[in-house]
Amino acid sequence: MRFVAVDNLEPGMILARKIINRNVVSMLQKGVVLTDTNIARLKTNGYLGAYITDSISADIIIGETISEKTFEEGIAAVEDADVGRIIDVARDMVEDISELDRISVDMLDLRSFDDYTYHHSVNVAVYALAVAAKMELPEEKIQETAVAALCHDLGKTKIDPAIINKKGRLNDDEFEEIRRHPQYSYDMLYDNNLISSNVRQAVICHHENENGSGYPNGKEGDEIPLAAKIIHAVDVYDALTSRRAYKEPYAPVDALEYIIGGQGILFDRKVVETMLEVIPAYPPGMDVILSNGERGVVAAHTKNAARPVIRIFPDGREVDLSKNEGYSSVFITSSGLLVQESKDVEVLNEDRSDDNRKKRIVVVDDSSISRGQTQSALFGDYEITTLESAVACLNYIKAKGAPDLIIMDIEMPMLDGVTAVEKLRGMIGNDTKIVFLTAVADRDTVIRCKKAGAVDYILKPVNPVYLRERVSIALDKNLER
Ligand SMILES: [Fe+2]
Ligand SMILES: [Fe+2]
Repeated sequence: MRFVAVDNLEPGMILARKIINRNVVSMLQKGVVLTDTNIARLKTNGYLGAYITDSISADIIIGETISEKTFEEGIAAVEDADVGRIIDVARDMVEDISELDRISVDMLDLRSFDDYTYHHSVNVAVYALAVAAKMELPEEKIQETAVAALCHDLGKTKIDPAIINKKGRLNDDEFEEIRRHPQYSYDMLYDNNLISSNVRQAVICHHENENGSGYPNGKEGDEIPLAAKIIHAVDVYDALTSRRAYKEPYAPVDALEYIIGGQGILFDRKVVETMLEVIPAYPPGMDVILSNGERGVVAAHTKNAARPVIRIFPDGREVDLSKNEGYSSVFITSSGLLVQESKDVEVLNEDRSDDNRKKRIVVVDDSSISRGQTQSALFGDYEITTLESAVACLNYIKAKGAPDLIIMDIEMPMLDGVTAVEKLRGMIGNDTKIVFLTAVADRDTVIRCKKAGAVDYILKPVNPVYLRERVSIALDKNLER
């Protein structure tokens, strides 16, 4: 079985797993041969893709973390906000997980736009349970974590759907209202004697950050219960990997990298470490492109999460990236949910009649994951070139001329970002805007960056929405000459 992104589905492919939709009970059954019509239906419903079976992937087995039946019961119980059934489902989930030989959430959840909230709650419960079980918490705590995860966003039903589903930017009042949902969830559970105070505490704290910058109460560190810390991190992971009306999904590896970047700031370190053990960066069945240009599908895990076994297309040859020496310098450049440019974005771009040309941005970063994150944050609006070193950037600019903006990392082997920009200024003058995107924050470096003519200095990890905004401001800024 393998996962195929919706744009790559073709008539004749055979579904390896049924596609559920709460409005249609089962939209397409396992074993169905896809036609143009049902592929079109999957697209209009906003599905990311489907699991199919074919000769190259027939023996790739992707284990379920919880059974399909438990998953569907979870969706129904959350939709009805039926606490008694939620507790039953949580018990079934704990049982399903306890029977696994190896805890790993390998199966992507396939969901449509309109199913978001309920699928989200069940997914968060699956991930949270996997983390809690891997941490070997006492069974009672694991059960509480599962119940709290299923209930964490119940309070969103108290908020006007027009705010929840709003595509544009939220105003201050709307934002405040959204931030009340943990309290609303807590209130909905308050009088229910089936729910312990531990569960209620985990629910109300699921948006609290390690450094106290979260909401609703700004709790920090040990003030936040462990179950809430677990739910918080996996909640963000699930949100990042889902497609929403206003954003394309992150591939698992990029979402994990974002979570890693938030360790100790947003998320508990131990929770993040455990997440990396139970959520694969490259799940089996995922399409990948290698840095040598070969394409393939992830066939199996290895001990090294970044270097799984790949079955190469079209011949089906298998390469263990963690062992095969011929592949020691080959790495995975992109995986799975390859972001496709959507029609809407193209239309939006055409509408900007005053400047039809897409602005050119060069992203320089030695981490492929950071490059991918920046690229997906800016997806659609710009022509983006990614380069893995400052030296490559100098060569690129010599060959292709100056772009409108360079987003530059600082700490890179060979040539650091600040020195590179100092050199670049001699080559390209001041027309190209430079934004540093870095984890380095010492005062001397910041001063050097300013001197080199940077228009902005952004610290990693960066929220993609914030990055988009800063980039658009940077491009509008007029440099003093
Ligand atoms: Fe939430
Ligand atoms: Fe959530």
